[in-house]
This record gives sequence, C-alpha cells and structure tokens, in this order.
Amino acid sequence: MKFFLDTADLKEIEEAASWGVLAGVTTNPTLYSRIGGKLSDFHAHIKRICEIVDGPVSAESVAMTRDEIVRDGRELAAIAPNVVVKVPTMIEGLAATKQLASEGIPVNMTLCFTVPQAIMAARAGARYISPFVGRFDDISEAGLDQLGDVIEAIGNYDFTDSTVGGEQIEIIAASVRSAHHVAQAALLGADIATVPFATLKKCVQHPLTDRGLDAFLKDWEKVANA
Ligand code: E4P
Repeated sequence: MKFFLDTADLKEIEEAASWGVLAGVTTNPTLYSRIGGKLSDFHAHIKRICEIVDGPVSAESVAMTRDEIVRDGRELAAIAPNVVVKVPTMIEGLAATKQLASEGIPVNMTLCFTVPQAIMAARAGARYISPFVGRFDDISEAGLDQLGDVIEAIGNYDFTDSTVGGEQIEIIAASVRSAHHVAQAALLGADIATVPFATLKKCVQHPLTDRGLDAFLKDWEKVANA
C-alpha cells in the first residue's frame, strides 16, 4: 500500500516528502480553505505541490455540470503532468470522467461510498477511486466494511479497458482518521491510503519503540563511559 498525504498545507507536504515514503497528495476544497487558500492562488498552489511531490496530486473540480467539470479538468491537468482531477461521484461527474479519461486525463472519483458507485466510477474510466471510511463511521456505519466491499468488488473485474491508458485502477482509502484505519486498509488490500499529516505521523510511532530506543540510548551511554 502506498501513502498519500491528505492536505493542502505545503509545510506538511514538504515534511512528509522528506521522510521518503510519500507517493502522492490529495486535496479538496475544505483542505484548501483550511489553509486560508484564495481562489486566485489555487492553480499556483497546486503547481507548488506538484513540484514538491514526485507522484499524483489530486486537485478537485467544484463544478456541477459535465461541461464545466471537463473544462475545469483540462485546466487543472495543464498545471503539471502529475495532476489528477478529482471529480465527485455523481451523474455529471461520471459523464465528465468518461470525457476526461478519453483525453488521457486521469481522474480520482471522490465522495465514493458504495460498491455500485465504485463500479460506475470504474466503468466511466476513473484511474483512482476514493471510498470514504471515516464519514461512514461518523454516521455509525462501518466504514472499513464498506471499503472492503469496494476493494473486493473492483477486484472481481478487469477494468483496464476503461481506465486511462489501460492502467490498473487504484483504490484510495480516503477519509482516514486513525492508524487503525490505515492498518485495516492495508489488510483489506487498499492500493493507497490518503492520510492527514497528524495521522501519518502516528503511523510511525509506538510507545514500545520509544521505550526501546530510550533503553538502548541509556545502555549505550554506559558503554561509552565504561
Ligand atoms: C480524500 O480524498 C478526501 O479529501 C478526504 O480523505 C476526506 O476526509 P474527511 O472525511 O476526513 O474530510
């Protein structure tokens, strides 16, 4: 499983990229608004992210009709070769995805919650599908079970005929809120987990690692002073 960072914060992206495990970034309108982003700076901001990250960077269209989504998608894709256009899973989004995919523009279908939505996204030609985990948990439904169902259903078919350039579709476990979500997404076989910075940090930390390191350092001091 690959790690994407779910943020629009350049400092977080720079820091995570320096760890050597970052394979991509996903942004959304909420994440861009959270860093005080302005509409006029949006394309420049995505360009900056694309320069930092050696991997796909999802930038979302907020248009509601297929023609507008396609227009947005073309503009976003022109920012950098690693831009992936994020399109909501809805009828207009499917139609736009079909068109963008036919032009060789990769799409990440977002706000995907169910197996039928995921299958339709795949049929439309999405390169990435993002089933949301945490938002199911928020309404007291089992988000990880839904993610597992999507992974299993997509795995039942060969969608390489419908995706951009015949690439394999990748499932991005999205709306990830904890290291437990990350672990379970990996066990379920998600191709990618897109993870907020604080959660990504927690993924590398464990109290037993800290305790063990502390003991090693203390014992090494004894060695040095012997
Ligand atoms: C991913 O692409 C989404 O932008 C993100 O994971 C949503 O997460 P949230 O439900 O925590 O807002």
